[in-house]
Amino acid sequence: MEKTTALILAGGTGCRMGSTVPKQFLRLGGIPVVSHSIKAFEISDEISDIVVVCHADYIARMESVIKETQAKKVRKLVVGGETRQKSSFIGLKNCSRDTKYVLIHDSARPFVCMSMVGSLLKAAKLAGSAGPVTDISDTVVETRGGFISGILERDTLGRMQTPQAFRYRVIVEAHEKALVFGLTSASDDCGLVIKTGGKVSIVRGNEENLKITSAADMELAELIFLRKMRTSA
Ligand code: CTP
Ligand code: MG
Repeated sequence: MEKTTALILAGGTGCRMGSTVPKQFLRLGGIPVVSHSIKAFEISDEISDIVVVCHADYIARMESVIKETQAKKVRKLVVGGETRQKSSFIGLKNCSRDTKYVLIHDSARPFVCMSMVGSLLKAAKLAGSAGPVTDISDTVVETRGGFISGILERDTLGRMQTPQAFRYRVIVEAHEKALVFGLTSASDDCGLVIKTGGKVSIVRGNEENLKITSAADMELAELIFLRKMRTSA
């Protein structure tokens, strides 16, 4: 089997959440938010390695989370950079040399869907890059000076999630090109591929795969967790 590495990004500090510890360490269903993704990749047959990128101030804490999770696939825990883009590139450079495919995932998304992982890897094998996209229900507007200056065509818009899947060389080259182009603040890796001239195949995202940003998201995540527990019981 060609080596597939899951890269979990936990190098942020969760400013918008404003909690005493970064949101990836808050407890959800009794375990830290980041443990949910570690566990999901741990039990996936398609993933052989996990690399975790963490903020420098929380390395010891992450070490104990990994230990608590009894994860066997975590090959490396590395210090991230000051932007998500930097953290992602650092993580990529720390994947084992024989990695052929990589799944890049935000630690702030605890509900990784396994069937989606399969579809993403399949799509990335064909197209080089693939990302999960969900529909938008709100109307999205452009604003200027306190007024609405335009309405975006909702049918052509979607919301990008993670994990995002790539042929390893494709995403490394996108990061290298981004630096040449002076792009430094990409909020996701598919975006980087697009901005550097590549193509990204779309896989259907999952509404439950929310990204925790604020305290309200954390409450919603607790409800989703409880529902998942009930339906799997
Ligand atoms: N991330 C990272 N390195 C950074 C910034 C972010 O690895 N320098 C990770 C975060 O840990 C998170 C994911 O990228 O899992 C998505 O970022 P976001 O939701 O914006 O998290 P934070 O940057 O931590 O939150 P905030 O923007 O509110 O500070
Ligand atoms: Mg951020």
